[in-house]
Amino acid sequence: MAAKYKSKIWYPCSQMKDFEDTPPIKIARGKGVFLYDTKGKRYFDAISSWWVNLFGHSNPDLNRVLKKQIDRLEHVILAGCTHEPAIKLADELTNAAPKGLTKVFYADNGSSAVEVALKMSFQYWRQTARTRKIFVALRGGYHGETVGALSLGGMALYRKVFEPLLIDVKYADAPKCTDCPYGLNKESCAAECLSSLEDCVRLAGAANVSAVIVEPLIQCANGMNMYPPAYLKKLKSFCLKENVHLIADEIAVGFGRTGRLFACEHAGISPDFLCLSKGITGGYMPFSAVLTGDRIYDAFYADYATGKAFLHSHSYTGNPLACVLALEVLRKFNEENVLETLKERISVMSNCLEEISLLKNVRNTRQTGFVAAFDLVNGRNGSPYDTKLRIGRKAALSMTKSGYLMRPLGDTLYLMPPLITPTKVLLDWKKAMIKVLRKLN
Ligand SMILES: Cc1ncc(COP(=O)(O)O)c(C=O)c1O
Repeated sequence: MAAKYKSKIWYPCSQMKDFEDTPPIKIARGKGVFLYDTKGKRYFDAISSWWVNLFGHSNPDLNRVLKKQIDRLEHVILAGCTHEPAIKLADELTNAAPKGLTKVFYADNGSSAVEVALKMSFQYWRQTARTRKIFVALRGGYHGETVGALSLGGMALYRKVFEPLLIDVKYADAPKCTDCPYGLNKESCAAECLSSLEDCVRLAGAANVSAVIVEPLIQCANGMNMYPPAYLKKLKSFCLKENVHLIADEIAVGFGRTGRLFACEHAGISPDFLCLSKGITGGYMPFSAVLTGDRIYDAFYADYATGKAFLHSHSYTGNPLACVLALEVLRKFNEENVLETLKERISVMSNCLEEISLLKNVRNTRQTGFVAAFDLVNGRNGSPYDTKLRIGRKAALSMTKSGYLMRPLGDTLYLMPPLITPTKVLLDWKKAMIKVLRKLN
């Protein structure tokens, strides 16, 4: 019997017992796309440290603005006070975001941003028309772990234990492009599969539905389930027609991951609420923002006694350190040709994926922008592995051992590295990945 893993830290999203044979890697420092452990071993951060890092670790520009701000103002309450970085960032975010998103509400992590959108949508209907208690979401969706955000998520893995505690959410089938029931492909997609969501809203009665929430283009936690912009376009029209809010959760896919600054841009749509976090500070600090439009904002604007104010807050709302980092992130996108340069890397990633797709134990290679994924199957008969074998974990651990930090999503492996990853590093990753996959069976 292995000795019980001793730790005073209760690690997130982990079975602590797993650490008996694979304790957490103690990271001492980071530079660029690499992390270094306390023994000096180097790891390529192939998962952008939980999808947050955009411009590498210890980025000189981000370090500079952070150091400068720290000597000026580290934090101040954002109720009754304001500050230049928050004001400027609201300007920059609304300029960069899809049309009509004119107001910014700050929070301090992804789940909180989802809570904000959920509560704003709910309160809007309650004070402009009548209470709408139902939210509609996609099966397999992931929106965070706080109770409201967890309720919107459609992954049994996270919600099962808490089911009795969750709010009323109706689920529709998510697009499943790796096995399209309509036999269509990305180019010919007419988003026929939206009918599941349409039925769901109509069954609940559109007048009872507060909002529909989706992760635009990629359900990341759901094994990187990717779908084309056509679905988003049709969804936006449907929400407009039925008069229900659309919440776009771009917490994971925003800030360049899909090849555009925001994933909604691919579909040319503007949601009623846009939730942003993770990459917003380049992966430096917990921070988030919810963007919405004048119609929503104006419904809360009234004398205090009406009770119409949005009385939601977090202590670290609009933290100045996070704001200057977010401003620097946007400056880099604006001035450093980030998305143009990314095009070549996206194409190299695509070539890597093509080579990997030739292996017998790989299925459903897929890519959206700078995110690539594939599923592991038994190379002998092409069938999925028994989940108890935890093959994805095994493969990811082998990669990590070889110096490529990965974390599986079940038996799906993915690559979602910082946007500045050099093509040489992508090619090295591919070589190592193929070696590991060949050894799997
Ligand atoms: C799409 C999406 N929404 C919300 C969240 C929750 O963000 P956080 O972990 O910062 O609470 C995540 C986190 O992975 C996410 O991927």
